[in-house]
Amino acid sequence: MTKLSFIIVQWLCLVAAGMIIIQGEGQSLMEKVVRVENDLGDGINLNVHCKSGDSDIGEHDLAKGQYIQWSFNCSWLGTTLFWCSMKWENVQGSFDVFDFKRDFPLCGFKCWWSIRHDAAYFYVETKDVWEKRYVWPK
Ligand SMILES: *[C@@H]1O[C@H](CO)[C@@H](O)[C@H](O)[C@H]1NC(C)=O
Repeated sequence: MTKLSFIIVQWLCLVAAGMIIIQGEGQSLMEKVVRVENDLGDGINLNVHCKSGDSDIGEHDLAKGQYIQWSFNCSWLGTTLFWCSMKWENVQGSFDVFDFKRDFPLCGFKCWWSIRHDAAYFYVETKDVWEKRYVWPK
């Protein structure tokens, strides 16, 4: 075996061991749920369309307090990315709702978004705070 293939085999074994440990806990550490909730206030509908490289969550119209959510397992390659485009009244914006490198450590399981008038807020589950993340373009 060359040194490189030894390293690759060793890495695969570590990943396999990690999967067994994580699956043993019942819920995979790699599993996340993204939720996007319309918190714009009375009478304002939110149009949302979310996607990743290989899936399309579809286009949805959300009334006040309604949300869409979906769950997925992050790729072991650390490349999982979901983004959404949103429209309400005459405002339009587009941003990443889950970026593995940025968000994996921040949301334990719940990667929640609250869509508000001034900005889109992200729930940092590990700190239990809503963080202002995306300000609508003027
Ligand atoms: C994520 O992976 C776990 C363990 O393999 C599985 O039980 C679960 O159903 C998966 N979740 C999704 C949303 O694919």
